[in-house]
Amino acid sequence: MFFGLVVPILLLSLTRPGLVRGQSSPQDAFMIQYFERRLTQLEERLNQCEQGAATMTQRFYDLTSDFRSQLSTLNVVRSEVRTQMESMSSRVDRVEGELEYLENKIPAPQNIEIEEALLEQQVLDAELEQLQKKAKLKLHNDCSTALSAVKSLKIVKKEGDTHGSWFRDPSSGSSKLYFLSGLRNDTLLEYTSVKSFTEGSSKHSPKEVKLPSYWQGTGHMVYKGFLFYHKADTPNQIVKVRLLNGTQADTMLLSGAGRLPAYSLNPNTYIDLAVDELGLWVIHADPDYAGNLVITKLDPDTLAVEHTWDTLCRSRGAEGAFLICGTLYVVYNTRYGGRSSVQCLYDIHDTIHSEESPVLFFPKRYTSHSSLHYHSQDKQLYAWDDGYQTIYKVETRRKDQI
Ligand SMILES: *[C@@H]1O[C@H](CO)[C@@H](O)[C@H](O)[C@H]1NC(C)=O
Ligand SMILES: *[C@@H]1O[C@H](CO)[C@@H](O)[C@H](O)[C@H]1NC(C)=O
Repeated sequence: MFFGLVVPILLLSLTRPGLVRGQSSPQDAFMIQYFERRLTQLEERLNQCEQGAATMTQRFYDLTSDFRSQLSTLNVVRSEVRTQMESMSSRVDRVEGELEYLENKIPAPQNIEIEEALLEQQVLDAELEQLQKKAKLKLHNDCSTALSAVKSLKIVKKEGDTHGSWFRDPSSGSSKLYFLSGLRNDTLLEYTSVKSFTEGSSKHSPKEVKLPSYWQGTGHMVYKGFLFYHKADTPNQIVKVRLLNGTQADTMLLSGAGRLPAYSLNPNTYIDLAVDELGLWVIHADPDYAGNLVITKLDPDTLAVEHTWDTLCRSRGAEGAFLICGTLYVVYNTRYGGRSSVQCLYDIHDTIHSEESPVLFFPKRYTSHSSLHYHSQDKQLYAWDDGYQTIYKVETRRKDQI
C-alpha cells in the first residue's frame, strides 16, 4: 500500500520539471517518450503489485478468519468431548457400584458348592428311597404265580340280598368269615367259619359288627383284622375300621375315583378293594384314562398310596376283578347274565401280557357276579352270584411256564 502511493509521486516530481523548462530537442522528446513509457510500465507493475498485495492481504485475512473459526469449532468439540468424558466416567462409576452391589448379593463360590452338594445328597436320598421301595416290592413279590384256570364251583348258600360280598381275611390264619349283604348297610356279620355259615344253626349265630358309617357297593375287603370299605355318600372315601370293636382307625380319599363305576355291570361299586400275596389294592375306573381300570397299591397301616398303575383293561362289560401276585385279572360278562370269563389282565411286573394270554372261562353256568374276592392261601375266589354265595377254586402256574 505504502509503496504503491509513494513511488509514483517521487517519479512524477522528478520528470515534470523537465517538461516545464521547454527548449525541447527531438532527442529530448524521445527521452520524454521513453520515460513516459517506462513510467506507464512501472505504474502497471505497481498496480499489479498493489493488486497482488491486496489479494495477499485478502487471502491472509481469509486464512486467519478460517483459522479462527476452525479454532472455535475445535473449542466446541473439545468441550463436547469433555462433557462426554464426564458422563462416561459417571456411568463407569455407576456400573462399578452396581457390580459391587451384585458381588455382595451373590453368595461366595464356596456357599454355592455346599448348596449343590446338599441338592445332590437330596437327589441321592430320593433315588435310594425309590430303590428301597422297589426292593421291598420285589422282596414281597417272590410270588411268580399266574392264573391258569378257574376250576370247580361250589354253591355254598343263598343268603341275604341279591347283591353283596363275603370273604375271609387272607392275611391271618383265622377261619373267620365276613358277610356284608346289600349295596348299602352299616352292619356286617362275622361267622367263626365257612362251616358255621353253611350250617346256619342257631348255636353258631354270627357276631354283628356295627360300623361307624354306611358302606356303598360291594368292594369291601378285610385285611389284618381291619375292614376297608367305600363310605356311602362320598365319591371316593375309603374307611378303615377295627373289626374288634367297630371303631374307625383311618380314612383316605382315593384321587381319581368316584366318577365312574369300577365295572359297568356293577353300577353301584365305585371302589373295589382286593388283597393278594403282595398286599392291599384298590381298583377303580378312571374317565381320564378312557374309562380303563386303574390299580393302586395302598399301605394297609397308613392308607398311603404306594403306587398307581393305569391298565389297558376296560371297565365296560366288566363285572369284577381280582389280583394274584400283582397281576390284575378282569372278569367280563353280559348285562343279562352269561358265562363269565377273564379277558384282560395287567401284570405290574410286565412278565405276562393280556394279548398273549388265552381267555379263561368260568365253569359252564349262567352267572351274574356282584363281587369276587380272592383268598391267596386257599386259592379260592369268594363270589356273590345273584344272591348265591359260591366258591371257585383256581389253578395257578409259574409265570415263566407258558
Ligand atoms: C343291614 O344288614 C343287616 C345284617 O345283614 C340286616 O339285618 C338289615 O336288614 C340290613 N339293613 C338294611 C337296611 O338293608
Ligand atoms: C377300639 O380298639 C382300639 C385299638 O385296640 C382302641 O384304641 C380303642 O380305644 C377302642 N375303642 C373302643 C370304643 O373300644
